[in-house]
Amino acid sequence: MSNYVCSSKAQIKPEAFHWTIDGSQVDLYTLKNSNGLEATITNYGGIVVSLKVPDKNGKLGDVVLGYDTLNDYIGNTPYFGALIGRYGNRIAKGRFTVDGVEYQLAQNNDSNALHGGRKGFDKVVWQAEKLDTPDGPALKLTYTSKDGEENYPGTLRCTVTYTLTNKNCLKIEYAAETDKPTFVNLTHHSYFNLKDGGASDILGHELMIKSSKFTPVDKGLIPTGELRAVAGTPFDFNKPTAIGARVENDDEQLKFGKGYDHNWVLDRQGKDLELVASLYEPTSGRFMEVLTTEPGMQFYCGNFLDGTNKGKGGTVYQHRTGLCLETQHFPDSPNHPDFPTTELKPGEKYTQTTVYCFSTK
Ligand code: BGC
Repeated sequence: MSNYVCSSKAQIKPEAFHWTIDGSQVDLYTLKNSNGLEATITNYGGIVVSLKVPDKNGKLGDVVLGYDTLNDYIGNTPYFGALIGRYGNRIAKGRFTVDGVEYQLAQNNDSNALHGGRKGFDKVVWQAEKLDTPDGPALKLTYTSKDGEENYPGTLRCTVTYTLTNKNCLKIEYAAETDKPTFVNLTHHSYFNLKDGGASDILGHELMIKSSKFTPVDKGLIPTGELRAVAGTPFDFNKPTAIGARVENDDEQLKFGKGYDHNWVLDRQGKDLELVASLYEPTSGRFMEVLTTEPGMQFYCGNFLDGTNKGKGGTVYQHRTGLCLETQHFPDSPNHPDFPTTELKPGEKYTQTTVYCFSTK
């Protein structure tokens, strides 16, 4: 049973997520592991609404940004906690070619496509099934994206399973199959703040990324194609470094991103699940490790948060009060044949696993 005390005043009410959308039932599901850690997840967009993990004094606190009601998520969200698909991150001019046919996606981020389009996987209702697994409580989400949805080719059948393991990890397992050649790049968009869930900035969080190269971008945040060494730049996080230490450095790449908003090429041994990053917040003592099967990770430090999102318990999310560690393939891979491929063909199975593990130091 739980050894932890809950410190947060706000309690999210499941009723505030009990809606019917497009004829489908939306709800809020609670996963509680054997140590008392708790995640609440809605099947609208597969959004992780809250994630309560202990600090060094054993006090549970919510470490992700978000809203108290589904209505707020529907109204306006910078993808708080959501599942992202079909293609996480940007595709230049929203254009790609498969099997000699050119497809035009919605240009929903200046001239580029971002995070699956106008109604990406973050805005659809997933079918939900609660499971008890040997690892811990789980929520299995299923969604079939029709051929032509958001102009992507192929019917894509997807499942995403969130498990809150009894080892204190949030495990996310993705799988997808298609009936026509297409591109897929699924990811998860929680904004973490291990200190206080977004009441103050994340600049003191110490980040480590096992990566010797990143993919520099142009002004529109599209990779130029170069894989650039991080050594000697503000992009070197091989040794744990406070995010605020170099984020304001005079660096063209940081200017393009208005801070960190880049894809790191992960230094991996193989294709299995591996530790690729960690995040430590000294005042709470919370420590998060990130393991993934993916070749890349977008680290976005909440540069576009500007105080216009009023979130859980009335917290106003100011500049850089949350950060995303989006494990994925590289941005705009469909237009960069030399990047690891994101093409999925009929008969193949897309899988990706990412695990966020929590402890204290
Ligand atoms: C992107 C940012 C974008 C944000 C939207 C991130 O994944 O890298 O550029 O502004 O999502 O909330």
